[in-house]
Amino acid sequence: MKIMYSAVQPSGELTIGNYIGAVRNWVRLQNEYDCYYAIADMHAITVRQDPAELRRRTLELAALYIACGLDPAKCALYVQSNVSAHAELCWVLNTLTYVGEASRMTQFKDKSQKHADNINMGLMDYPVLMAADILLYQADFVPVGADQKQHVELARDLAERFNGRYGETFRVPEPLIVKGEARICSLQDPSKKMSKSDENPNASVYLSDDRDTILRKFKRAVTDSDDRIVAAEDKPGITNLLNIYCAFKGCTMSEAEAYFAGMGYGEFKLAVGETVADVLAPIQAEKQRLLSEKDVLAGYLLAGAERAFKASRKTLSKVYRKVGFYRG
Ligand code: TYM
Repeated sequence: MKIMYSAVQPSGELTIGNYIGAVRNWVRLQNEYDCYYAIADMHAITVRQDPAELRRRTLELAALYIACGLDPAKCALYVQSNVSAHAELCWVLNTLTYVGEASRMTQFKDKSQKHADNINMGLMDYPVLMAADILLYQADFVPVGADQKQHVELARDLAERFNGRYGETFRVPEPLIVKGEARICSLQDPSKKMSKSDENPNASVYLSDDRDTILRKFKRAVTDSDDRIVAAEDKPGITNLLNIYCAFKGCTMSEAEAYFAGMGYGEFKLAVGETVADVLAPIQAEKQRLLSEKDVLAGYLLAGAERAFKASRKTLSKVYRKVGFYRG
C-alpha cells in the first residue's frame, strides 16, 4: 500500500485554508493509503509559543482531526515530539543541507521578516525537520497546500542526495496539491494566503468560528469593482470566494458561476458564508464531544505514536547504519 504523510502545526486556530488545503483531503485518502498524520509541535516552537496554550492546542487539534473525519483506527494520528526519530533524522539531514539552500526558502524569508526579533536556527531548519518527517515513513505522497510545495521539493532533493551518497535508502516523495483548493486567500487581501496568524481577525475564517462570526466575516470580505460573479485573474476577491464556495459545496467552478449569475454581491457573500457555516457546525459539535473524553483522545494519540515509532525506527536504523554510526 502506498504511504501518505502530512502534518499541521498546533500554532493557532486552524483556518478553513488548513481544512480545505490539507485535512479534508487527508480524510479522502485514508481509505486507500497507509497514512501518518502528525501534529507538528516541534515545528510550532520555531515561533514563540505559550507552553500551556501549545499543550491545549495540541489536544484540540487531535480532536479536530477526528471530528473532520480522520479515523484513528485507519491512520496513525500522533504528536511529532512523541516520536524521537524526527529530531534524530533531522540531525543527519542537516549535514546534507547547504546553508545557502535553507536560507533561500520562501517561508524562512517571510517568517524572518515577520519575527525579526527571533530569527532562530529552528526557523531556518524548519524544512529540514519537515524532510525528516516525510522521509522517515518512506512516504510516496505528501498532501499539502501550495505554500508547502517548496519544502516538499527540498525533501525530494535531500532524499536523492542521501541515496546518491550512501546508497538507496529513502523513497522520493511527491507533493499532492489540489488545484483551486491549495491556496485559500485572505478575505481582506486576496493576494495573500489565509493564515492562522493574520493580525486582522476578519482576514481568516477559523474552524472554531460560530455561525454569526462566519457570516459577518464573509459579509465584510473584499470584492472587486464590477458586479459579475465569475472567476478571473483580475477578480481575485470574487475568485477566492468562489473557490471557497466550490470547496465547501462540492461543485465545479462553472456550476457555481451559473448558480450565482445575476445575483448581487451581498446575497452571494451570504450564500458562501452559510455554506461554510453549515459544513463546520457538525465538525465543531463533534470536536467538543471528543474534548470531553480526554482519556479516549490520549489513547488514540498513544496508539498512533506507537505505530509511528515502529515505522520510523526501521528507517532510522537503516540511516544510522549507512552513515557509519557504531552499533555494538
Ligand atoms: P501549517 O500548520 O502551516 O499548515 C497546514 C497545512 O495547511 C495548508 N494551508 C493552506 N492550504 C490552502 N490555503 C491556505 N490558505 C492554507 N494555509 C495553510 C498548508 O499548506 C499545510 O498543508 N509545514 C507544514 C506542517 C508540516 C508538514 C510536515 C506538512 C510539518 N511537517 C510534513 C507535510 C509533511 C505546515 O505548513 O503547517
